[in-house]
Amino acid sequence: MRRNFVMMVTTALLMFYAHLVWAEHARAVELTMYCNPIESPSLLKSIRIWEKKTGNNVTVLSGPAASSDVLALYQQQLGAGNPDIDLYEVEVVWAGLLAKHFIDLKPYANGAETAHLPSVIESNTAKGRLVGMPLYLDVGMMFYRKDLLEKYAQPLPETWQELAAVAKTIVQAERAAGNKKLWGLVFQGRAYEGLTCNALEWINAFGGGTIINSEGKVTVNNPHAVAALKEAASWIGTIAPKRVLNYSEEEARGVFQSGNAVFMRSWPYAWGLGESERSPIKGKIGILPIPKGNKAFEASGTLGGWSLAVSKYSKNQAAAADLLFYMTSGEGQKHLSLLSSYLPSVTGLSSDPSSKIKMGLFNNAVPRPAMVTGAKYPRVSSEFYNAVHAVLS
Ligand code: GLC
Repeated sequence: MRRNFVMMVTTALLMFYAHLVWAEHARAVELTMYCNPIESPSLLKSIRIWEKKTGNNVTVLSGPAASSDVLALYQQQLGAGNPDIDLYEVEVVWAGLLAKHFIDLKPYANGAETAHLPSVIESNTAKGRLVGMPLYLDVGMMFYRKDLLEKYAQPLPETWQELAAVAKTIVQAERAAGNKKLWGLVFQGRAYEGLTCNALEWINAFGGGTIINSEGKVTVNNPHAVAALKEAASWIGTIAPKRVLNYSEEEARGVFQSGNAVFMRSWPYAWGLGESERSPIKGKIGILPIPKGNKAFEASGTLGGWSLAVSKYSKNQAAAADLLFYMTSGEGQKHLSLLSSYLPSVTGLSSDPSSKIKMGLFNNAVPRPAMVTGAKYPRVSSEFYNAVHAVLS
């Protein structure tokens, strides 16, 4: 009698549990997210936590790494109204162009925006709609080999002329000693968005403005901009390899991280990878601001950063927004900054040990003219980087 009773209760419990699992399974949402291949391994941590919390599943797709290639791919997918991709990792400078394909996140935000730097929320807003939430911030900076500058007692360069002189001294001495592969400087010189970021830094550092000013007037045709580009052209084949004209972020980092460049202009992510366990230059990397044109001018790194957006063609917008707000929350950004040295946009979050320096550089960062040009920005940028590329070549 007693045994029967126990069996009945156990069976009922098992059936109840099976029902719960079934119900959970039936409710589970399958999301697909498109993100940059460089950060996708670091994004997985937040994604897996959210999957556990909600019982939903996320598939992460990655394609090209270079910003302009990513944009071309997104324009194809969004232009075709693809319902199979729910979330996209997007650049802040695309907000104007892509806004019409993304949902307004405000109804899902519950005030989450207020935890982020206001200027970054503003650049994710198009015509009053919050079309993206920031995942991390970016700012251009100069990485250098501390060990090599120390070995040759070289000063930390403040201007581009000083940087070229330091690079030449070290490369000459190292090559004479048999280190034949060493170059002075690598950066992103391919004709794409990355070159716009580099060249904006050069022009700004020579007092030549920001291509288009905040009133929408084209200002780039000026003698300071000419001086900046002449200077940059003088690096090609001297301190920088000619191949730099084909480099995006990852090619430049490949050279620097394998120990074959004294200086590299890049973004905060390069720190985390350069300081990782298996990096040949671990412990040897320093960070400097972008050099000035001359001591009379101020220089800054270009402002960058990536956000998450929910496609308006998604059939799971509420779940996608839930994932987005988890990944862009303080907790989500902390995973990213601790794992990979990205800069958080949530205020007051500390990340890796270099974050103080990076945050200081971020505070002066120079924005691309994306707000004022809106949906036309990618066309403005491609005119600009193609012209710069022609000068460098
Ligand atoms: C980085 C920046 C982004 C920029 C791109 C250029 O990903 O975050 O804003 O456009 O580099 O290559």
